Amino acid sequence: MRLDKFLADCGVGSRKDIKTLLKSKLVTVNGQIETSAKCQIDEKKDQISLDGQILNHETFVYYLLNKPPGLISATEDTYHPTVLDLLDHEARHKKVFPVGRLDIDTHGLLLLTNNGKLAHAMLSPKKHVNKVYQAKIDGIMTPADSLAFAQGIALKDFTCQPAQLSILATDDQENRSVVQITIKEGKFHQVKRMVQACGKQVIDLQRLSMGPLQLDPNLALGQYRRLTPQELASLEMFGVPL
Ligand code: URA
Repeated sequence: MRLDKFLADCGVGSRKDIKTLLKSKLVTVNGQIETSAKCQIDEKKDQISLDGQILNHETFVYYLLNKPPGLISATEDTYHPTVLDLLDHEARHKKVFPVGRLDIDTHGLLLLTNNGKLAHAMLSPKKHVNKVYQAKIDGIMTPADSLAFAQGIALKDFTCQPAQLSILATDDQENRSVVQITIKEGKFHQVKRMVQACGKQVIDLQRLSMGPLQLDPNLALGQYRRLTPQELASLEMFGVPL
């Protein structure tokens, strides 16, 4: 590939920035200064450095985000900021997108990647990927509700697959509950609708995990980081190139 394409893929700057970097003799190919944007390199074999730092060419990138409420899980929106507004230049340059959607008011784990095959596999109903949520509920969830979840709640337009509802805490005085809900599907407003079918209301929803990925307690709302090598390895179960 061309050297300027390689540098752009590494997110070092715009095409204009790259021209300047090359002219300034800051780029080396296998230890030799290179100033031509057109220079052909082999990204698998050649060692490219910028200002003494070796650059790694990555096709796919993976970020774990603790999504805050108030942002849309999409790449663009007319009225609201999107989760991409949280990302730095490098991540945006890689054209990442969220794997699935959380409602605007839902917070917690969201995977962002530019690996379409992985996203497709993780969202495929055939893969039965567990999504675990913690929810604060207006109302008291009961063992009868847990049974209804396990049997598959019938909504107006479809019947949910069996899901798990664990009651973590109830407060009779405040008429509130805290529950953990595990679903394998990801239909629109699914958790909220399942709780509503039991006659109660979700007042706060947080996603704790998606498949093998867990929300990182060290990430504050709005913070993100790259997946660790272990997390990346855990995605091999989806059988797509990473
Ligand atoms: N279920 C919902 O109702 N909302 C979400 O954001 C995710 C799951």
